Amino acid sequence: MADKTTLLDAAGKVAFVTGATGGIGNACVAMFLAAGASVVATGRRAVANDDPRVLKLALEATDEAQVIDAFAKTKARFGTIDYLVHMAGMVGKGRLNEMSLADWHTVVDTNLTSAFLLMKHAYPLLRKPGSAVVLCGSSNGANGGSYLSGAAYATSKAALVNLTRYTAKEWAPDGIRVNILSPGPVDTPMLDRLSETQHDGLKAQLPLGKYATADECAGGVMFLCSAHAASMTGTNMNISSGLVLDR
Ligand SMILES: NC(=O)c1ccc[n+]([C@@H]2O[C@H](COP(=O)([O-])OP(=O)(O)OC[C@H]3O[C@@H](n4cnc5c(N)ncnc54)[C@H](OP(=O)(O)O)[C@@H]3O)[C@@H](O)[C@H]2O)c1
Repeated sequence: MADKTTLLDAAGKVAFVTGATGGIGNACVAMFLAAGASVVATGRRAVANDDPRVLKLALEATDEAQVIDAFAKTKARFGTIDYLVHMAGMVGKGRLNEMSLADWHTVVDTNLTSAFLLMKHAYPLLRKPGSAVVLCGSSNGANGGSYLSGAAYATSKAALVNLTRYTAKEWAPDGIRVNILSPGPVDTPMLDRLSETQHDGLKAQLPLGKYATADECAGGVMFLCSAHAASMTGTNMNISSGLVLDR
C-alpha cells in the first residue's frame, strides 16, 4: 500500500473484469485504471475504452470455450491475473409459474454457472498470495427478491454467496481471497426496465431513500481487492441502502 489512506494501490497488477459494458463493471474498470492496474475488460458488446492498459475482449461468460480463450489471451498479454471481478449478470422476470425452463437456465447460467467457469479457468493465473476474487450477488439473494427480477435471479444470487464461501475456504491456502458484493438497487441500465411506479415503490423500501451508484459499488470492489481487506475472505458486502439488514 502506498500510504494508509490509499484505497487500492494496484500498480503492476492485472484486473480481469466481466460486465465491463455495464454500469458497475465499467465503473470498476475506471477505478482499477485510476489505481494503476492493467485491465482485461470483457463484455458481449464492444467495450468502449481506449486506454492502452486495457485489453478489450468479447466474452459470452456462459461459454466455456470463450472463457478458456479469454484467459489464454490474458496470459499472452499480461502473464497473470491479480483480481478477478465478475460483474456480468442478468435479471429474469415474472412469477415462477410463468417462467419457462429455458429462461430459468439462461438466468442461472448467466449469473451462477458463469462464475464457476470463470473461477475454474482463472485459477491457474490467480494462484498466488495476494490474489482476490469479487463476485456479484444482490439483495435479492438475501431477501428472496420478487417477480420484478424473478425466482432464477434471486436463487442464483443466493447460490453465489455459498460459492464465495466454498472457494474462500478451498483457495485460502493458495493465498487467494474470495468475497462477494451484494447491492440493492443500483442506478445502472439494469433498472431501465422498471416503470416510474415500480421505481417509486422500490425507493420507498429503502431506509436511505436512494439507489446506490455504480461508483459506490466499484469502491466496494476496490476495498475488497485491497490490502485493507487482507483478512477478509468469504464475506458478503451489503450495499443496499438499508434494504437488507437482518442477515
Ligand atoms: N443494477 C442493479 O440494481 C443491481 C442490483 C443488484 C445486483 N446487481 C448486479 O450487478 C451486476 C452488474 O449489473 P449492472 O447494474 O452493471 O447492470 P448492466 O448495466 O445491465 O450490466 C450487465 C452486464 O452484464 C453483462 N452480461 C450479461 N449477460 C452476459 C453474458 N451471458 N455473458 C457476458 N456478459 C454478460 C452485460 O454485457 P453486455 O451488455 O455486453 O451484453 C453487461 O456488461 C450484475 O451481476 C447484477 O446482477 C445489479
